[in-house]
Amino acid sequence: DRFLASLAALDDAVPPPHRVADRFAAVSPSRPGHFENTPDTDPAVASNRDMVRAVLARVPGSEVGVATIEAARVTSESQLDSRLSAAVAAAQGWGALTGKERGEILHRVGEALEARRADLIEVMASETGKTADQADPEVSEAIDFAHYYGELAAGLDNVDGAVHVPEKLTLVTPPWNFPVAIPAGSVLAALAAGSAVALKPAGQAERCGALLAEIITPLLPDPGLLTLVQVEEQALGRQLVGHALVDRVVLTGAYETAQLFRSFRPDLPLLAETSGKNAIIVTPSADLDLAVKDVVTSAFGHAGQKCSAASLVVLVGSVARSARFRNQLIDATRSLTVGWPANPESQIGPVIEPAAGKLLDGLTKLGPGETWLLEPQRLDDTGRLWSPGIRDGVRRGSAYHRTEYFGPILGIMTADSLDEAIDLVNEVDYGLTSGLHTLDPADLGTWLDRVQAGNLYVNRGITGAIVRRQPFGGWKRSAVGAGTKAGGPNYLVGLSAWQPAESHA
Ligand code: SER
Repeated sequence: DRFLASLAALDDAVPPPHRVADRFAAVSPSRPGHFENTPDTDPAVASNRDMVRAVLARVPGSEVGVATIEAARVTSESQLDSRLSAAVAAAQGWGALTGKERGEILHRVGEALEARRADLIEVMASETGKTADQADPEVSEAIDFAHYYGELAAGLDNVDGAVHVPEKLTLVTPPWNFPVAIPAGSVLAALAAGSAVALKPAGQAERCGALLAEIITPLLPDPGLLTLVQVEEQALGRQLVGHALVDRVVLTGAYETAQLFRSFRPDLPLLAETSGKNAIIVTPSADLDLAVKDVVTSAFGHAGQKCSAASLVVLVGSVARSARFRNQLIDATRSLTVGWPANPESQIGPVIEPAAGKLLDGLTKLGPGETWLLEPQRLDDTGRLWSPGIRDGVRRGSAYHRTEYFGPILGIMTADSLDEAIDLVNEVDYGLTSGLHTLDPADLGTWLDRVQAGNLYVNRGITGAIVRRQPFGGWKRSAVGAGTKAGGPNYLVGLSAWQPAESHA
């Protein structure tokens, strides 16, 4: 623990290419052997389209996960203590298995998730409003995590010079925006590393967490290994995060939530994936048609509610001065169908709650010098359905430049040179994803040297990291903790305790 804590402390101060935790991966033989990414449902196949239609027909009255989550509510401190104690007791036998044995169980989890794909899409659509085209790849990602971490688990048995010591209890606190892939990934990584898990689903996505537990728990040798805990009261949430039985917390959420968790327990071993304010730079040599498509998908997919979403596009030189990019962007954005997920035509679904506060401001107010290229429209009385908005003329240092909004809004900034564009991107406090559209290799070199973000994408959208191919994790205020990347080769290293081999012997 002390070893990893010292790595984490170093990594807080050092940018990703030089992170010690990344170099530590060199001692891990955890190289995947036979892993292949799971394909999404192919809409060209008629029976698949029928499957999705049948799922969407069930969405309005869906009760998936209800009974399980009701049974998981914890309303008193003593109840919390006994749930967590049961989890710790279950960890004993689990940690004593080899990584390979745990990995085999994870592969079975992967198969079970595939078998429940339709139910997982149903629960995401019904509970969080996620459209089927966004929910389906999320199931694939969850399956990928199961098989990938299943393979990495076997690698934990054979590390030269260090012995892997499983922790007893990992608390997983996932967000509502990827209510299946992110909890599945965090839970399965911790299980692969030999820990028992307490899963506290986000309040807006608790049935999604419940369904995951329904699928995973029966495959584990002891039901206590995955304990679903739902706490509503703030005081109990604090008790849960700061609980003495919790060895580590894996959080995906706002930067402020990570700060709050640290305030509950300053020495808390925390692995947190936090906020983003991400941009795509479009240079004069870019394939503009491709850039428009990738900006639109990255900005408005899942109604912009991704930590990885493009909130800014920075147009360089002649792209900024001509009308072409802006006009195509408007046309492409207008072509999107906004609607509730039960309607198979919907491409952009609702925001998670009626827009209020910061998000409502982002959807309705302009900053100095800004104009609407496309003004967001409130489409019904719920306050949740909004057409996507594009604001032009975002100024350097303005509120829009620096704030994460988490909704269907895109801002345009302009720069005279690529260097100036990179300065604008780097001036935000976060560094999660970043994109460059260019066909000039010199641009690529400049950008790679200078841009400050954990996940970099060239001539591609900036959301939808693929397990193993694009390990996912941020820099600056987008990450708190050891800085290992989800879906990457050293993620389990960051979730484990280690002892030098000789002291263990
Ligand atoms: N992994 C997601 C993405 O890449 C974000 O959490 O979009």
